[in-house]
Amino acid sequence: MSKILEVRQLVKEFSKGSKTIRAVDDVSFDVCSGECLGLVGESGSGKSTIAKMITALESPDAGGIFLDGKGITGLKGREQRAVYKDIQMVFQTPTDSFNPRLKLGDGIMEGMINHGISRPEARKKMLETLKICGLSQEYADRYPHQVSGGECQRASIARAIVVNPKLLICDEATSALDVTVQAQIVELMRQLKSENHMAYLMICHDLALVQQLCDRLLVMYQGKIVETGTPDEIIMHPREDYTKRLIDSVF
Ligand SMILES: Nc1ncnc2c1ncn2[C@@H]1O[C@H](COP(=O)(O)OP(=O)(O)OP(=O)(O)O)[C@@H](O)[C@H]1O
Ligand SMILES: [Mg+2]
Repeated sequence: MSKILEVRQLVKEFSKGSKTIRAVDDVSFDVCSGECLGLVGESGSGKSTIAKMITALESPDAGGIFLDGKGITGLKGREQRAVYKDIQMVFQTPTDSFNPRLKLGDGIMEGMINHGISRPEARKKMLETLKICGLSQEYADRYPHQVSGGECQRASIARAIVVNPKLLICDEATSALDVTVQAQIVELMRQLKSENHMAYLMICHDLALVQQLCDRLLVMYQGKIVETGTPDEIIMHPREDYTKRLIDSVF
């Protein structure tokens, strides 16, 4: 399988009052096409900071990030826009993906139109993608505040996948939803995963959930990756004490 994303010796520090903390401390990993990689770890362990560096919301203090073998840190302008079409993100709060004053359909079409796709073509693709994500055509004309959290998360998944990204990052994409809706979104992700060959990075607290979706897991603790393996390997035979505690707290 080809490597879509390579993360090498990534470091990010933040100052907290008078001292500096290493939120991400020498982290390296790969995600291959068709693979779903799970990133788990306690609150504050650095998971979202990694996602933010991959999506250029934060810049690394050291290390490299490569998409299809090409370094993507520090890109500017048109080059940056082209690369970041290939990396899409779904956030914890579904409405974060949308401008509250734009109809969902227009929000979903934005990325395509910015990349030069004609309006009629973008609309057609938007409606098809809404359908894939389990929403009927009429949702295109609703505003974000006129749909439920679960529906809005479906729309934000549609918004992310409509531009055919190479990598989809989900940062706690189901944790703000209630349990039954969570299960439906997980089912949608599973369906997407079986149907197309994106690479997925799933950031999640919930080990039971990543077990259902992910091919491989990274366990983070205090900015470092402390364990890697398949979900079953890690859940059945955790090597690190921290991982054992994480598992005990869930199961
Ligand atoms: N912009 C920032 N400025 C200062 N400190 C930050 C900033 N962003 C994150 N941090 C700190 O970096 C550490 C890692 O934060 P991060 O958000 O990556 O954790 P996380 O693993 O995503 O946690 P959670 O599971 O709660 O979402 C935390 O100590 C956090 O307070
Ligand atoms: Mg986070």
